Amino acid sequence: MKPADNYIEFQNVWRSFPQADGGEQAVLVDVSFFVPRGETVAILGRSGVGKSVALKHIVGFLQPDRGRVWVDGRDVTDLEEKQWAVIRRRLALVFQSGALFDSLTVAENVAFPLRERALQNGQQVVEEEIERRVQELLTTVGLAESADLIPSDLSTGSKRAVAIARALAAEPDCILYDEPTTMVDPLMAQTITDLILRLKEKYHKTSVVVTHDVRLAERVADRLVMLCQGRVCFFGTQEEWRNSDDPEVEAFRSLDALPGAPAVR
Ligand SMILES: Nc1ncnc2c1ncn2[C@@H]1O[C@H](COP(=O)(O)OP(=O)(O)OP(=O)(O)O)[C@@H](O)[C@H]1O
Ligand SMILES: [Mg+2]
Repeated sequence: MKPADNYIEFQNVWRSFPQADGGEQAVLVDVSFFVPRGETVAILGRSGVGKSVALKHIVGFLQPDRGRVWVDGRDVTDLEEKQWAVIRRRLALVFQSGALFDSLTVAENVAFPLRERALQNGQQVVEEEIERRVQELLTTVGLAESADLIPSDLSTGSKRAVAIARALAAEPDCILYDEPTTMVDPLMAQTITDLILRLKEKYHKTSVVVTHDVRLAERVADRLVMLCQGRVCFFGTQEEWRNSDDPEVEAFRSLDALPGAPAVR
């Protein structure tokens, strides 16, 4: 497939970090995978394997030492910071922490990107329109009743749902989720998984879900990438994942079979 057919593509990406002892830690080793437009791809792997580092290459917070990264048909490997602004506008990153504004209500958090965009485009802010859109988005994520609360009144799971609503408000081409089900109880993890799935069915946006929660990955992803010691040890479709007899894949997959087993940390 040509890069343009894929929304995101990693081509032989290498990335190391210097260590305190003067050595180098190789985090991404010859990593290649792609995310076709409109598909959801999960980046799976144990804690510390380099999932968030991979994600940071998609939004330009990190650049590869070697290899190329493509976003929306464009080679972004050598882009300068000011060129990233245009690309980042098309991407919405849902952080693990939610990263909400604590002094604003839930509704104002979701309204933020709407106001920002109106400002950027020199359009007048129509309050009724913003209110309608915010209500619609909060209803989509199941939080219509929480509009006037502040984030600190919400559970971790609900904060994430607000963060997702805020991400959607920016009308991105692509949503990037970093560990959406970490640090919540299994029921809440289920609720967030259901939400991601519903959004996928409703909006068909290109999505990347970084996670070590194999249940989440198996429910929402069209394709899965698994990282093992920095390398891609599996990249394929959901069906190929289910049929793979690779021992690393089998080990990870079996976590799903354990009744009530928590996600690996
Ligand atoms: N800016 C950085 N400088 C130095 N080392 C870094 C940097 N960012 C990440 N690392 C190292 O790279 C490795 C991979 O980190 P990363 O955060 O990508 O792991 P992860 O797979 O997302 O783990 P988790 O599931 O716990 O979130 C870790 O050993 C981390 O310490
Ligand atoms: Mg991480």
